[in-house]
Parts: sequence; structure tokens; C-alpha cells
Amino acid sequence: MSSGQLFPHKHILGLAQLAAPEIDFILQTAESFKEISQRSIKKVPTLRGKTVINLFFEPSTRTRLSFEIAAKRMSADTFNISSAGSSAVKGETMVDTARNLAAMNPDCIIIRHSRSGSPGLLARHIGASVINAGDGAHEHPSQALLDLMTVREHKGEIAGLKVAIIGDITHSRVAHSNIIGFSKMGAQVRVAGPATLIPPGIAAMGAMVCPSVREAVRDADVVMTLRIQQERQLDPLLPSLREYAIFYGITPEIIELASPDAIIMHPGPINRGVELDPGLADGPRSVILDQVTNGVAVRMALLYLIMGGE
Ligand code: CP
Repeated sequence: MSSGQLFPHKHILGLAQLAAPEIDFILQTAESFKEISQRSIKKVPTLRGKTVINLFFEPSTRTRLSFEIAAKRMSADTFNISSAGSSAVKGETMVDTARNLAAMNPDCIIIRHSRSGSPGLLARHIGASVINAGDGAHEHPSQALLDLMTVREHKGEIAGLKVAIIGDITHSRVAHSNIIGFSKMGAQVRVAGPATLIPPGIAAMGAMVCPSVREAVRDADVVMTLRIQQERQLDPLLPSLREYAIFYGITPEIIELASPDAIIMHPGPINRGVELDPGLADGPRSVILDQVTNGVAVRMALLYLIMGGE
């Protein structure tokens, strides 16, 4: 049976479009693919002959490289293009750039863009599959999927867990995808951060807004801390990063309030000493590098499921 018969989606634009059983199916597929990356020869022929283009209009270390590694481990041909090295610098629009790439007949375009909705716009204009690798402050679906996979690996079940997401909720596409994903999978999601960085409609997405970091972290099974997205703030929404660290940073004292076996997560890049104490980032509760490892498996699963691998 081909993956196309098992998974009905051509594009991955956000977790809002995926039902809980579909999220579960992606995680199961990723869990089965993880073993490939532990072999001495880390390659399977599943996507041989398929072409994948990474089109990144914003910087990335983890997402771009792990999509490329995932595609290569499944034998797809991969190509990378960034805004700095493309004709976007000469004024070409994103859709024109994508249409020209589509004219070369790729099977999948993975796009990161500062504008929310760019992957959806692209999906309407080209025949290839589109994966959202992060669009503005909207969604980052593959990050939330790798976070769900990491939590499932450490906790067994997601349903019933208390997940605290701390920081810049307004500008964080990671927070938005995780609130949707963890809520759909039956976890209780709590958010906390400066009032200027908590959007008014967040409760409608399924999150409980806590008045303080302490209340959000108390008895939590998962503590996810986020970077302040200064690049998305037109006017500074914080007095200073130093004050943010004092009032909203996750410290050894704060983490003592969480469940004794709570895990600490961060999507990266980390601003050490601002949102997260460096000792905690590298300590025994941290699963931050497990998140990165699982990113490859999740992206292998997504490429396989939407490109119809056998
Ligand atoms: N988590 C994440 O999206 O990291 P990059 O910006 O390095 O891709």
C-alpha cells in the first residue's frame, strides 16, 4: 500500500488542519523511521527519484538541515535555496519564485517565510506538495510534531499531561502549533509570559492562561520555554531581556515547582540565561537534543506520507 492511501493530505500547512488520529499516525510513522538514523548505513530507497526543494526566506539551522537529512536518508534528491542567494533580492515575488521552481517539476517544496500564510498561498499556486517550515507567527507544524514525539518517548502518553509553555506566545509559531497539537492529543496546555506577549484569543486555541510562571509550572509534566522573538516585534514589548530573565526565566528554583520527573524543552535557538538557565538546558531533565534527533524522524515521516512513498 502506498502512503498516499494511508494519509489523505497533499500539504502540511499546520496542525490546525490535522485531526488527532492523523497526528498519531504521523508520530507512529516517525517512531518506525527513527531506527534508520541509528544504522551504520543511514539510507533507504523509499523516495528514490523524488525531488525536494528547501526554500528558506528566513534563517534556520535545525529545520532546514533536518529536512535535508531526512530527504537524503530516504534517497530523495534535495536542493536548497535561500532568499539571500535567490532572485528575491532582485524583487521577484515569493509566488513567482515558487512558480519558477515548480516549472522544474519538484515533488515537494518546503518553505519558511516571515509572512504568515505564505505556505498556503504557495500551495494554491503550484502542483507540488508544500510543507510549512515556519510562517511568521502562524504555525511551525513539524516542530510541534517532533515535540509531541519527544514527549511521547519520555512520558508514554500525551493525554492527561500538564504542559506549560512559557514566554513570547504572541509571536511564537512554535507555541501556536504546540497549543493546537498538545490540546488535540488530550494534554492540558498552560501558558504564561509578559501580558504584552500573550495574545487575547489564545484560550480559544485550547490554552489556559496562567497569571504567573510559577502557576503555569506548578505540577507540570512538561516545561517548554521559548525564545523572545525580537525580530517580530515592531515596537519592543519588554522593558529589557534582563528583566524578562528575572520574572519569566526558567531557573532551578522555578523548576522545583514542576512534577519531580518533569522534562524541559526548547525549540532552539536558546538564549542561555534569558529564557532558560544554562545548567537546566544541559541538565538531566533537558530533552532539547532529543527534540533535534526526533526532528529528522518526523520530517522523514512527513516526506514519506505526503509524497506517496511505497
Ligand atoms: N526550532 C527551529 O525552527 O529552529 P531553526 O530556526 O534553527 O530551524
